[in-house]
Amino acid sequence: MSDHCISTVGIVGAGVMGRGIAQLALSSGMAAVLVDSRSTALQSARDEIDGRFRRLVEKGTLSADEAVAQMDRLSLRDELSALSETDLIIEAIVEDLDEKTRLLSEIESRVAADTLLASNTSSFLISEIAADARYPDRFFGLHFFNPAPLMRLVEVVAGQATSPDVLARARAFVLALGHTPVMTADVNGFIANQLGRGYVLEAARLAEQNVASFKVIDRTLRAGMEFPMGPFELMDLTGLDVTYPASRAIWEGNGFDERLLPPSLLERRFKSGLFGKKNGKGFRTDERICGGNDHDDLTSAPLVWAPAAFRDAAKPVLEMMSSIGVTISDDTHPPENSVLLLSLEGERLLTVAQRLELEPTRCIGFDPLFPGKGEVSLIRSSLTDQRLVNRLDCRSICFSDDGAGTICQRIALQLGLIAGDMVARGVATADDIDRTAMLALGHATGPLKRITHLGAGRMESLRARIFEATAEARFRPSRWLTEAALSGT
Ligand code: NAI
Repeated sequence: MSDHCISTVGIVGAGVMGRGIAQLALSSGMAAVLVDSRSTALQSARDEIDGRFRRLVEKGTLSADEAVAQMDRLSLRDELSALSETDLIIEAIVEDLDEKTRLLSEIESRVAADTLLASNTSSFLISEIAADARYPDRFFGLHFFNPAPLMRLVEVVAGQATSPDVLARARAFVLALGHTPVMTADVNGFIANQLGRGYVLEAARLAEQNVASFKVIDRTLRAGMEFPMGPFELMDLTGLDVTYPASRAIWEGNGFDERLLPPSLLERRFKSGLFGKKNGKGFRTDERICGGNDHDDLTSAPLVWAPAAFRDAAKPVLEMMSSIGVTISDDTHPPENSVLLLSLEGERLLTVAQRLELEPTRCIGFDPLFPGKGEVSLIRSSLTDQRLVNRLDCRSICFSDDGAGTICQRIALQLGLIAGDMVARGVATADDIDRTAMLALGHATGPLKRITHLGAGRMESLRARIFEATAEARFRPSRWLTEAALSGT
């Protein structure tokens, strides 16, 4: 069989994922044999795939003849014997280790000597499913994302015993589907789910430390780093009943690594049944307690002044504030009653104010690395005059509390540190991790590309300052970042 000659794909499990993968294979010119133990699941899969093709015909992106031909290549079966003529079998049944192991053993007894075998598991190790397999060299992970036809990235997971030739054929198959393969070692969470912890866990830690409300953290990350969804909106959508156990499993499965440790805030909310949208008890359900003003009335806003040394870095923030009516002073000395805007890079606002001998009650901070698009997130200390804060807090300006590292800086670092650890451990290449962040998680850029863009030396200094100030182990040194900083990237 050549690299590209997978012409018939068997898919076991006609649920959300199985039917999506079947649709994708049909659209790519392959035949699909969809097997499920429930005939109702098969019927509803058929109707859904047919409905999707019909909609494409209505839109004019698929001809009626092609739609008929694609449906003709789909077979629905309720028994595994139907898989004997397939080139590749993808298991997409319920996420249960015993079920998956039993199924693999049954499939192995029915297939041809060169049939490839894959699992779409999200949370088990491939080698765990294949622990007693007869042909572990032919078995690998093909982790599609939901919805499979639209999410263009697939993680190709190498089990302990998967042969390199099989992995090359798996990669070629993903390319033949028109999707992007990324190659990953068999670690809990693979690339995407492990990397995703850097976003939601650090955000939960920021909330737990009372740095800002859920809403302000969401707003800051959307505006500052262009995430399509804030971390709390995301957890509400996914459901904490899914996110918390998955986070625990990834932490446990990766040697209880502190970078992946789920904060107790998540455990408490999980145990309290605060799952998110699915039961109407989410982080963002009750906006009254979420903080952040909803108006843009800045008629009483104080004059804003930045020290000369910070003016270049503050330019985007000052321009944005000026565009919504805040008056900016370019005097050499701070005018009376003005707010003093200081640049923060891993240091506390109070530390910078003290060093510059400025009155702490008038000081607020900004993030020079992530100034924000359309919205600005500023930092107040415990000594900042709350009346000044209230006069600036509006729809376009929000405030978080003083800490070591701003909200965006801490998220960028955690994403980069987790990604860097994966590179250092040989889990995946930097390019594949960056691709995964963008295509599977919807991030505007990859975590490692972002660090290189901002300057690895600068990010390493930021990390060192936060680690020194907090002694929190997830900010411990990283081999990847240290080497990137030393090599001057
Ligand atoms: P689902 O619950 O929608 O569908 C599972 C299907 O498998 C059901 O139709 C069920 O009847 C069938 N099934 C169960 N045991 C079977 C057996 N022994 N033989 C034949 N059919 C059997 O599940 P879903 O969401 O499609 O997930 C499937 C797999 O894909 C899981 O391993 C999951 O972790 C993984 N996955 C799910 C994603 C998602 O967003 N839903 C994303 C990526 C991976």
